[in-house]
Amino acid sequence: MLKRPRRNRRSEAIRGMARETRLSVDNLVYPLFLFDGKKIKDEIHSLPGNYRMSKDNILREIGACMKLGIRNFILFPAIAEELKDKTATYSYDPKNFYLQTATAIKKRFPECCLISDVAMDPYSSDGHDGYVENGEIINDKSLPILARMATAQAQAGFDMLGPSDMMDGRVKILRETLDIGGFYNTGILSYTAKYASAFYGPFRDALDSAPKSGDKKTYQMDPANKREALIEAKLDAEEGADMLMVKPALNYLDVIHLLKNNTELPIAAYHVSGECAMLIAACQNGWLEYEKAMPETLLSIHRAGADVILTYFAKDYAKMVKNKAF
Ligand code: PBG
Repeated sequence: MLKRPRRNRRSEAIRGMARETRLSVDNLVYPLFLFDGKKIKDEIHSLPGNYRMSKDNILREIGACMKLGIRNFILFPAIAEELKDKTATYSYDPKNFYLQTATAIKKRFPECCLISDVAMDPYSSDGHDGYVENGEIINDKSLPILARMATAQAQAGFDMLGPSDMMDGRVKILRETLDIGGFYNTGILSYTAKYASAFYGPFRDALDSAPKSGDKKTYQMDPANKREALIEAKLDAEEGADMLMVKPALNYLDVIHLLKNNTELPIAAYHVSGECAMLIAACQNGWLEYEKAMPETLLSIHRAGADVILTYFAKDYAKMVKNKAF
């Protein structure tokens, strides 16, 4: 036998030299759920270990994460039902606690990168990402609302905006509106290939943001499609996106790989709530070992081509790195 691939696996020293992929905490984005009020820290029942927190606790949490080396955060608001309406007006209200909290976070931690979602669902009485008329999601009436929301978020101090609504033409209107407002440094992390997935359940529990009627299949992508992601990627790049995201991650590793090989922009992947919840549940049952299965999962998303991974495991991964657990 002239070739014995096992020689490169003989010891940890040799495996270390031959290792093709390494995942750093720099690649991770930690999602956080913001609730209005004080001293709130409610665990999300379908996503154990994750909480809806008020501003005081969010600031504390970000401080703790920064000490572990996490610098990137995406913040989501849980909005009271009485503040929701058809046109998501609260999303750009100057009194909006989410925007005010973002300003406070950037003031306290100017070196962090704070990311926001741009979509109507947390603020919409219909629970949809776009404007609803007679049961239809009206693309072109949603765009100016999203642009207004984006300007308010940029003004509040967010570093990057993540349009997650899947309306056509949203990246262009956001880029143009941000530039006109002087926010040319505010980046766009576009949810390029966001699928109509069954794996967003715990997230919608956390924000009470499930659609009041119908589903999101007329705007989010069909899980059966892959080539269509290239159309979205081309459009987002042309329209001025700075990074392209695939969502969910694990069931869509082929799409991550495809975009990585066919575009030049950094690729992000959203390791969504349902994907994390499955692993947590298996570990709680003693069926999988968390400290092994979790890093392997994140590594596989990175190996598929994601430069950036949004994951609820960011903090645990950073702790493992700090403790030199691997
Ligand atoms: C809102 C949004 C969703 C997620 C991120 N942004 C839910 C949805 O589209 O219904 C899901 C993230 C997760 O499940 O972790 N547009």
